[in-house]
Amino acid sequence: MAHIEACIFDMDGVLVSTEIYHYKAWKRLADSIGISIDEHFNEQLKGVSRAFCIDLILAHGNVKKTQIEKEQLAAQKNQWFLEYIEHISPQDVFPGVIEFLTDLQANGFKMAIGSASKNAPLLLEKMQIAHYFDAIVDGNTIEKAKPNPEVFLKGAQQLGIATSACVVFEDALSGVQAAKSAGMYCIGVGSKEHLTLADECISSFTEMTVERIKQIKR
Ligand code: BG6
Ligand code: MG
Repeated sequence: MAHIEACIFDMDGVLVSTEIYHYKAWKRLADSIGISIDEHFNEQLKGVSRAFCIDLILAHGNVKKTQIEKEQLAAQKNQWFLEYIEHISPQDVFPGVIEFLTDLQANGFKMAIGSASKNAPLLLEKMQIAHYFDAIVDGNTIEKAKPNPEVFLKGAQQLGIATSACVVFEDALSGVQAAKSAGMYCIGVGSKEHLTLADECISSFTEMTVERIKQIKR
């Protein structure tokens, strides 16, 4: 029986409440081209790459754009997103996160970020939590968007830990699917009704303890 040796964290919606800003920027972009999206539709956008989000929105509105136009739309969305996250600071890190990361580190667990976002390095710097992580795998270094497991497999590889000894924390359906395809234990951050494939769910890191991680047997 194997024990958990590493934790891999998604970033947006897991460590910090940036999902709301992604949604705000996507909605503004969709509105600007006459496509209506709501929070229900937004669930599909969570966890997936910027380029793939554009494709999903255009398909939803049945609108065709050239590759260059799509790149312009992606750049506009990111410009708005960067404006919205300008004020992000260590105070925006979700409750319980710092305590949990500190305890994991003190207990010798390896830690990685597994995010689809190209803005991960910037946000980690703003939140001042980059130093906790032994590896950062993000939208700048992966080719295949979640639900493809690439991001988590690369994380485990960079940490030098077997996939079966990794726990993934995820808030997005696509991310939970990616973690399970990678053969990892997955703790959903959100409701079990929504994140059905997750092995278990928490609603906040204030519920999380190192003891709970140590009790997971694979
Ligand atoms: C994911 C978010 O973490 O990153 C998505 O859940 C976002 O909402 C994706 O679209 C890509 O982020 P970015 O910052 O590279 O546009
Ligand atoms: Mg997320």
